[in-house]
Amino acid sequence: MRITVLGTGYLGATHAACMAEMGFEVLGMDTDPEKISALSAGTPPFYEPGLEPLVRRHLRSGRLRFTSSYSEVEKFAAGALTLHFLCVGTPEKKTDRAADLRFLEEAIDRLAVVLRGPSLVVGKSTVPVGTAERLARRLNAHAPAGAHVELAWNPEFLREGFAIGDTLDPARLVFGVSSPRAESLLREVYRIPLGRGVPLVVTDLPTAELVKVSANAFLATKISFINAMAEVCESTGADVTHLARALAHDPRIGGQYLLPGLGFGGGCLPKDLRAFRVRAGELGIGHTLGFLREVDAVNLRRRRRMVDLTRERCGGSFRGKRVAVWGAAFKPGSDDIRDSPALSVAASIQLQGAEVTVYDPKAADNAYKSFPNLTFASSALEAAIGADVLLHLTEWQEFRELDPAVIGAVVTTRQVVDGRNTLDARRWQEAGWSFHALGRPA
Ligand code: UGA
Repeated sequence: MRITVLGTGYLGATHAACMAEMGFEVLGMDTDPEKISALSAGTPPFYEPGLEPLVRRHLRSGRLRFTSSYSEVEKFAAGALTLHFLCVGTPEKKTDRAADLRFLEEAIDRLAVVLRGPSLVVGKSTVPVGTAERLARRLNAHAPAGAHVELAWNPEFLREGFAIGDTLDPARLVFGVSSPRAESLLREVYRIPLGRGVPLVVTDLPTAELVKVSANAFLATKISFINAMAEVCESTGADVTHLARALAHDPRIGGQYLLPGLGFGGGCLPKDLRAFRVRAGELGIGHTLGFLREVDAVNLRRRRRMVDLTRERCGGSFRGKRVAVWGAAFKPGSDDIRDSPALSVAASIQLQGAEVTVYDPKAADNAYKSFPNLTFASSALEAAIGADVLLHLTEWQEFRELDPAVIGAVVTTRQVVDGRNTLDARRWQEAGWSFHALGRPA
């Protein structure tokens, strides 16, 4: 059995490398030739811990190749049973915030005409429920007569920063299938994790699509729940970090996705939440997911609260003030800046008149391309020089390890606002800092 992976972004590049690691011969395909030449040279065009060595290992082993041509896909699949994984992006449409399925439809149309032998096409992209059945009809309409072509859905739950581990050793596998043949082919592909006892749910196409969007909606809701509690804490003098700890001890609640702070960003949670609501509206059940509007609103309010808190620390106005920002990635362990809460706060403060200097260990290059008006420093210490306020907005490990006394020697005023509730308040206060955080008393 051979495998192709269409779309080599965060999801596809990781999936391709992990499939090679599981022993398959894999061809990664992307219409972006720059991405393909970077991957073919063993250098993924984004940071993901462990991915570069894995890609390099399998370029060398000969099990992994990349191409930007569909005719290569056709040649690769000729004469062998092939599974084609669809991993292209489904970004947010600017107009109505629905998922833009253009890339997926294009991939299906271009793939269908080169499918000459028996094949299974497996969707992994995050899509509105109902998409797979529509794509299956489209696939069958375009595939050359006689080809035994079928569509299945196998949603992906990997987190950036943990992508390899999440793919090789997932928390669960979900197969959305329309036939026993599709199920048995997917069982064959995932025989290693299944052999280790990874739980499997076999279901239909719409349920498989829904598992993904509802999982992301649930995670977003959990984060916004604790951030709404942070707002309550701010109005009552309570401490949301103690509250979260106490809640987490209840095994029915659990501690994951309960870290209060600046909220969620990235290329998935925010857009999936909005697309899910739009889809519910299309289905005539918009009211059912009305609460997701509030989940989104709480999330965006945290960013505004961070800006307001910083303005207060600057004495009511940003004019003539210097603000140091630690963090630009939407979360630690990634260089992804899509919908980054840290950059949204930094840009807003800069627009309101402050001079903002940002440091991020991995995302500075990406951030500079999108936010050229911000100043970028090459270290956390350099960013802090002359600052009136220091903001901790992405919780990289290195920020927790820095000595507040050393940082304190270069700032103008020792004021820090912890937007991620992961700095050690006592340590900073002992070094003479005035310490503020979201959802906690000063
Ligand atoms: C998310 C899901 O966790 C994955 O399961 C899913 O596969 C992926 O989206 C996707 O749809 O592709 P990811 O976007 O990599 O993964 O990021 P997360 O680790 O889930 O974090 C999302 C955001 O929530 C980050 O901005 C993070 O800082 C924030 N967050 C997370 C909190 O504010 N508090 C928390 O307690 C946890």
